[in-house]
Amino acid sequence: MTTELISAAWAAREQAYAPYSNFQVGAAVLTKRGEIFTGCNVENLSYGLTICAERVAIGTMIAAGKRDIARIVVVADTDQPVSPCGACRQVMAEFGDFPVLLVCKHSQLEMTLGELLPRAHTGILNR
Ligand code: THU
Repeated sequence: MTTELISAAWAAREQAYAPYSNFQVGAAVLTKRGEIFTGCNVENLSYGLTICAERVAIGTMIAAGKRDIARIVVVADTDQPVSPCGACRQVMAEFGDFPVLLVCKHSQLEMTLGELLPRAHTGILNR
């Protein structure tokens, strides 16, 4: 299943719209029921409007009516595993404390959301 998830993320990366950074990223979400939803980064001339691959994949999953994430894979053609941005860490944390597998050219690194973003839910809205 992980092999399939990684392949899905690489395939999604092919669709990246990244004319400004020329840095293509792919993401694939696996739900607890075994469904896969993918995303790629979508850039904009107004750079700050760029949406990362992780958030596109999560949005696609949500639009399909699913919420239970088992794991997420993020792929980039780099020497070191890519580091998800702070906004994506927060958006991923909204849906649980699951493993995030960061895959690059010749290696991979797995971290949990809790490791990527400690205390994501603590002290907000009085919770
Ligand atoms: N990017 C992602 O899509 N995901 C990441 O985890 C890191 C960065 C995108 C945003 C932007 O389009 C490009 O990569 C360069 O930062």
